[in-house]
Amino acid sequence: MSNTKSYHMSTDDFRRHGKEMIDWIADYYETVESYPVLARARPGEVAASLGDELPVHGEGFSKILRDATEKILPGLTHWQSPGFHAYFPANTSGPAILGELLSAGLGVQGMLWSTSPACTEVETRVLDLLAELLGLPESYRSTGNGGGVIQDSASSAVLCALIAARERDSGQRSNRVGCDGTQVAYCSTQTHSSLEKAMGVAGLGRANLRQIEVDERFALDAERLAVQIRSDRAAGLRPIFVCATLGTTSSNAVDPIADIGRICSEEGLWFHVDAAMSGTAAICPEYRHLNDGVEYADSYCFNPHKWMFTNFDCSCFWVADRAALVGALSILPEYLANEATRSGAVFDYRDWQIPLGRRFRALKLWFVLRYYGVEGLRYHIRRHIELTGKLVAWIEADPHFEIVAPAPFNLVCFRYRGSDGLNQRIMEELNEGGEIFLTHTRLNGRFVLRLCVGQARTELEHVEKAWNLVAATAERLRRIVPLTEIDQLS
Ligand SMILES: Cc1ncc(COP(=O)(O)O)c(C=O)c1O
Repeated sequence: MSNTKSYHMSTDDFRRHGKEMIDWIADYYETVESYPVLARARPGEVAASLGDELPVHGEGFSKILRDATEKILPGLTHWQSPGFHAYFPANTSGPAILGELLSAGLGVQGMLWSTSPACTEVETRVLDLLAELLGLPESYRSTGNGGGVIQDSASSAVLCALIAARERDSGQRSNRVGCDGTQVAYCSTQTHSSLEKAMGVAGLGRANLRQIEVDERFALDAERLAVQIRSDRAAGLRPIFVCATLGTTSSNAVDPIADIGRICSEEGLWFHVDAAMSGTAAICPEYRHLNDGVEYADSYCFNPHKWMFTNFDCSCFWVADRAALVGALSILPEYLANEATRSGAVFDYRDWQIPLGRRFRALKLWFVLRYYGVEGLRYHIRRHIELTGKLVAWIEADPHFEIVAPAPFNLVCFRYRGSDGLNQRIMEELNEGGEIFLTHTRLNGRFVLRLCVGQARTELEHVEKAWNLVAATAERLRRIVPLTEIDQLS
């Protein structure tokens, strides 16, 4: 007698609820501007609203969705709001969301070519095409010695690059017996903290990362880098790795990658370029100069999950010599051995990353590239840069404000001409107001406001609104907040 009992969702119910879900998301996008951009939830509030017992009997999907509306939405910071100007964006789009849904629906785990050939081959092809679109060197293509892979994040990409450099230098010795503490890596004081973290994770030691001073534009000073490398060699250390950034997190500074690349090539160091957000600009031919010098790089990374309308996570990582990466990360237990791997004719992407398992992330990227086309992507990137230019002009025209770093793409660093405390109060008031959300950094020791234009739906009216709010809030606070109180915050 067969047991036909099932708790699974039937395909009919899936069809029905799936449509409800898509409608819910569409409604969310139509109304996202009505929510305070920065979540107002207090710590523990969302968790408490969920109750403390799991249901013994399954619940109806409509009730679950209702709870998502009532309990989850109020606890969100709305990253897809056109008033989101904080950090760097994590924008998305219809085709990306639907590509993600298809990936979830197929439920493929693409650790090996043989566990789903399409998962690997779409990824390889999409990254080859994207390399072409960004004007990246031929050496990164899978048709030569290099190739691209999708990582979860730029942090994972830099970790993989660092491990490949470590093993290239030690001839696989560090993998076998651990590090000896003599391998040294370099970046600037403005490099993303993920590299420092990677130094620890890779066993190289955070103390072996040299953070080189920057110039007046907050870009790495290549001369100082060369001096530091020579001095480390003289001290018996082994320089192995340099990371340069195209668009630093703090101020969007662009490191001189051709100068740095030449030093790396003379000194035999692995050169990694982190273009996490700003790399997207190179889709437009007029910004492709960003990548001048990338031909020296052993690896390059940029995140479509920041500024290319592809929902988190999706970080593209290319290497010029895939054998160096695979040699550092590959390990083959018997239970994964298969004929395709043995043939050497395929990529097994588990060898290009830290985890074994992997999702079919290339689908959403493929959907985005096809849906927008080159023309559509260029249009929206140019639009963001144009809107940023307008904001810069408004700030420059206001004698109460100053721009404090070059704004080459879509991030503006500026401050009210007043104390750090006043600038901090301006930011807090704006974020509490709920109409926009922006964040800060410190440059040359001063508190600086950062406003990034990168949301898919951010238009002129939103940037105008943001600027008007900033200027009005600054003016109001300057009049009402006692100077003593402001200075306490400084
Ligand atoms: C320049 C740069 N590199 C790396 C990262 C880390 O990105 P991810 O979240 O993909 O690890 C960021 C994040 O903002 C970044 O701005």
